[in-house]
Amino acid sequence: MRKKQQKKPWGGRFSAPTHALLESFSASVAVDRRLYRHDIRGSIAHARMLMKIGVLTEDEFNAIESGLKTIQDDIERGAFEWDDALEDVHMNIEAQLTARIGDAGKKLHTARSRNDQVATDMRLYLRDAIDQLCAALTALQRAIVQRAAAEAATIMPGFTHLQSAQPVTFGHHLLAWNEMLERDYARLRDCRVRVNVSPLGGAALAGSGLGIDREMTAAELEFAGVCRNSLDAVSDRDFAIEFAAAVALLMVHLSRVAEEIVLWCSSAFGFVDLSDAFTTGSSIMPQKKNPDVAELIRGKCARAHGNLSALLMLMKAQPLAYNRDNQEDKTPLFDSADTALACVEVFTALLPAMKLNHRRMREAAARGHATATDLADYLVSRGAPFREAHEAVGKAVGFAEAKGAQLAELKLAELQQFNAAIAADVFDALSVEGSVAARAHTGGTAPARVSEAARAALKRLSSRSA
Ligand code: ARG
Repeated sequence: MRKKQQKKPWGGRFSAPTHALLESFSASVAVDRRLYRHDIRGSIAHARMLMKIGVLTEDEFNAIESGLKTIQDDIERGAFEWDDALEDVHMNIEAQLTARIGDAGKKLHTARSRNDQVATDMRLYLRDAIDQLCAALTALQRAIVQRAAAEAATIMPGFTHLQSAQPVTFGHHLLAWNEMLERDYARLRDCRVRVNVSPLGGAALAGSGLGIDREMTAAELEFAGVCRNSLDAVSDRDFAIEFAAAVALLMVHLSRVAEEIVLWCSSAFGFVDLSDAFTTGSSIMPQKKNPDVAELIRGKCARAHGNLSALLMLMKAQPLAYNRDNQEDKTPLFDSADTALACVEVFTALLPAMKLNHRRMREAAARGHATATDLADYLVSRGAPFREAHEAVGKAVGFAEAKGAQLAELKLAELQQFNAAIAADVFDALSVEGSVAARAHTGGTAPARVSEAARAALKRLSSRSA
């Protein structure tokens, strides 16, 4: 950063220099320089429109366009000198443009304010960020669904209250993850609809009297339409809040998935072994292999929620129209986008690193009299009212407990003490395989249904546009 006092582009009415403390306090360029590509794209669209309405000559437009392109190249090569005294990305680029091309550069900001400029940049940035996150989510979902198809018949315990409840298939469990992510994806696409409108032309707040064509710049920037009200266009950041909210919820989902992986990796569960590339050791306990990656994903959920809170609080009680408070929106917004993308990408890579212990999963599924409900259903299908069947099976479970056996390990004669209708075919119902196979309805855990649901999910993923 240059140290010398810069003349401010807005300095006309000022005679004294900015206080040294304020200079760094109000500068945002360290954060918002990330918007340079979108800023330049917005400026070129605006300049083209200025040419069309006669504010710029063709030569002036060409000078502006090529000047901005060389600035973009310099930024990308790391050869651009950012200056805190010029506050933000917008004024840095504009000042440099004028330094390079002379008077034509001074005309670029006609009929525009940094207020509509920054709102435009943010929307262009967020549109890209959403597309990138959606593509990453699709890749993660594809990995999950393919694994679900491969594990459609893998038995594991299903839990309620983290107590073994009824057997399910691992494929079914994975498809539940996919359902959560499918809604997250839909929320992001829906948010994109409201992101994708152009605030450009709102100018400072009241629009411009110079005969601007907002539809032209909107079309040029591939926005689906224009913000209908200039005051609203430059002031509201609800589109960023919506995105942060969608990310917060996505991160909640990822934290749930991460928590399950952490549990499954513990020796108490022993369902999953994570490959060395996705675990870390302990500096003191030589035997340790920790699932830090999953823990970090779980932990990063906190950042996403902090960001959402920050954006909501930033907007709260702001009077119309633009207020400088909004400069504070970049850090949380960028962080939410970066965090979500990183977590989704890491998860996609982590998934194939999960080695399942099928034997441990099946054993755990069979413990805890997990097919007791199946015995009750068996009695129901032989005419017993469910409450009576429930009672009889409860007694049978008590009998098995006292004997130190599982319900499914009791002899036929022992079971028949509790209901005379029980026959030899009861053992099909009592087996974990029988239990999952019986749940063959829509949304059920039966292997055949899981395979079918995985195929349908893959088809939905393939038909996505992003
Ligand atoms: N850096 C500012 C922001 O991010 C740009 C807009 C400044 N507008 C103003 N009137 N000071 O919000």
